[in-house]
Amino acid sequence: MKNIRNFCIIAHIDHGKSTLADRMIQLCDLVTEREFKDQLLDNMDIERERGITIKSQTICLPYTAKDGKPYLLNLVDTPGHVDFSYEVSRALSSCEGALLLIDAAQGVEAQTLANLYLAMENDLEIIPVINKIDLPSAEPERVALQIEEDLGLDSSDIQLCSAKTGAGVEDIFEAIVSLLPPPEGDPDAPLQLLIFDANYDPFRGTIISVRVINGTVKPGETIKFMSNNQQYRVEEVGLFKLRKEPQKQLSAGQVGYILAGIKTVADTRPGDTITHAAKPAASPLPGFKEIQQVVFSSLYPISTDEYEDLAAALEKLKLNDAALTFEKDSSAALGFGFRCGFLGLLHLEVIQERLEREFDISLILTVPSVQYIFYLSDGTRLTVDNPAHYPDPGHIDKIEEPFIKATILMPEKYMGPVMTLCMERRGENTSFHYPTPGRIELNCELPLAEVIYDFYDKLKSITQGYGSFDYEMLDYRKSDLAKLDILVNGEVVDALSQLVHKSNARARGLHACEMLKQEIPRQMFKIAIQAAIGGTIIARTNVSALRKDVTAKCYGGDISRKRKLLEKQKAGKKRMKTVGNVDIPQNAFLAVLKSD
Ligand code: GTP
Repeated sequence: MKNIRNFCIIAHIDHGKSTLADRMIQLCDLVTEREFKDQLLDNMDIERERGITIKSQTICLPYTAKDGKPYLLNLVDTPGHVDFSYEVSRALSSCEGALLLIDAAQGVEAQTLANLYLAMENDLEIIPVINKIDLPSAEPERVALQIEEDLGLDSSDIQLCSAKTGAGVEDIFEAIVSLLPPPEGDPDAPLQLLIFDANYDPFRGTIISVRVINGTVKPGETIKFMSNNQQYRVEEVGLFKLRKEPQKQLSAGQVGYILAGIKTVADTRPGDTITHAAKPAASPLPGFKEIQQVVFSSLYPISTDEYEDLAAALEKLKLNDAALTFEKDSSAALGFGFRCGFLGLLHLEVIQERLEREFDISLILTVPSVQYIFYLSDGTRLTVDNPAHYPDPGHIDKIEEPFIKATILMPEKYMGPVMTLCMERRGENTSFHYPTPGRIELNCELPLAEVIYDFYDKLKSITQGYGSFDYEMLDYRKSDLAKLDILVNGEVVDALSQLVHKSNARARGLHACEMLKQEIPRQMFKIAIQAAIGGTIIARTNVSALRKDVTAKCYGGDISRKRKLLEKQKAGKKRMKTVGNVDIPQNAFLAVLKSD
């Protein structure tokens, strides 16, 4: 155990976590140059394109220190986005230490702080690392000052490196060995394995990533999940070398994997404790929480005959994503689809992209919603995330909506406009302080519903990219809610209905009408587009009728061109939904979701 170090890298998005991880792998001689692919740890396509880590992967690095002693360094990779902060906290609690990676040009950001606080809650030893010192705009001295003053960390431990060129990375290894404590734990005590991740393998089932806190686990033993008492037989245990390397056993202090014939990752729960069925531990490890979906949206295939494909695709995604939930949903306008729950908007976008790209299914999404609590006059309490389930307004006593605590870090000069944004979004109890001269940390309590609606994009544009944002769930508060319906030629398009705060209703209604007007092609008749609450129309607009014959410009031309034009129109139609007698293109549904 003396020669093991379990650590993770925590950073604000884009500060270079994956690049540093790759560089460390490369320096450990685990891979030859030829095998070394950029961004080894981020292996999903979308992760690579968007440059964000969604699913963590762990790797065990053999390292011979300058004193000649061999060490095993377990690098636990953590996801880098606010949606996944529970996963981050589970990964952290499987480590003794963390590299806190900070971009030498950007300095400390909101997620740097949020992740640092998570690490501190888990009692981790922190090594500050300033990355990207090769950049011309790097200001390591300024960042070092921030680390000392904003974060209160000892600046004598700061490591300087460039994950890109490799400069300084060797010293980070030495710092890990000398500054981080070895793991503790009793290999002979009753078994306590902390689950911090799970990945699905089509041939072997679920690969559970675990940290052995106490005890020893071997193949053939019967284990039990302490959250639900499910039992399984261990088939294999091992270490995360470049490929999974089976071992005779895993014992206290080690990080590794377990295979136990588990079909889907949804059967495992990050943060849960695994123990022996025969000789269980007295209590589970602290900190376990059920995953909470906070954003909900319905997904419909554009073409109704793709419903089965969508069902199969969701099943497949679910195998490797315990946080995704879905159940059948139906809409008069769009037919059959699924109501899905997500950890946040980013999670939603990732799933949408994967469905469209990997499974080639064109989708229509309904306006994302949070979960509201309705108290009805007969005393029932109802949670509603779907406008279709909005109760009869006459029976509603009180409605509550979820609030978050937001932390925003920005240069001082953006304070005014950001405050205005928070106020527009119904922010409460705003407070701020200056962690360092010129920078402001703003804390604000906001309704989650206002944040999932383009808050982050607005913040980025107001602060020209310099503002950063992080949040945690707070509580439920009383809300003045209404169901906004959109009517096309007098017919409610149920898939466009949304739950909105009354103060926003008219603006959202107008916006939806305008967007639809721009996206719905003119047809042979005038189309009325209206927004309504209950029976009251609060906004309206028209798409005027089309007069010209679409094929007119082909007159005199040859017939094949005319046919091509009609073919093209037909293909376009496939991406349309007919509501009543009006063709609405997919883009129109998407446009309503977006703000201006
Ligand atoms: P998430 O996975 O989303 O958390 O991002 P990340 O922190 O892993 O960032 P990533 O490693 O993907 O790096 C972000 C960008 O910074 C990439 O374009 C890298 O090429 C670049 N980058 C990383 N390290 C360095 C460095 O030392 N110097 C320079 N110049 N660029 C770097």
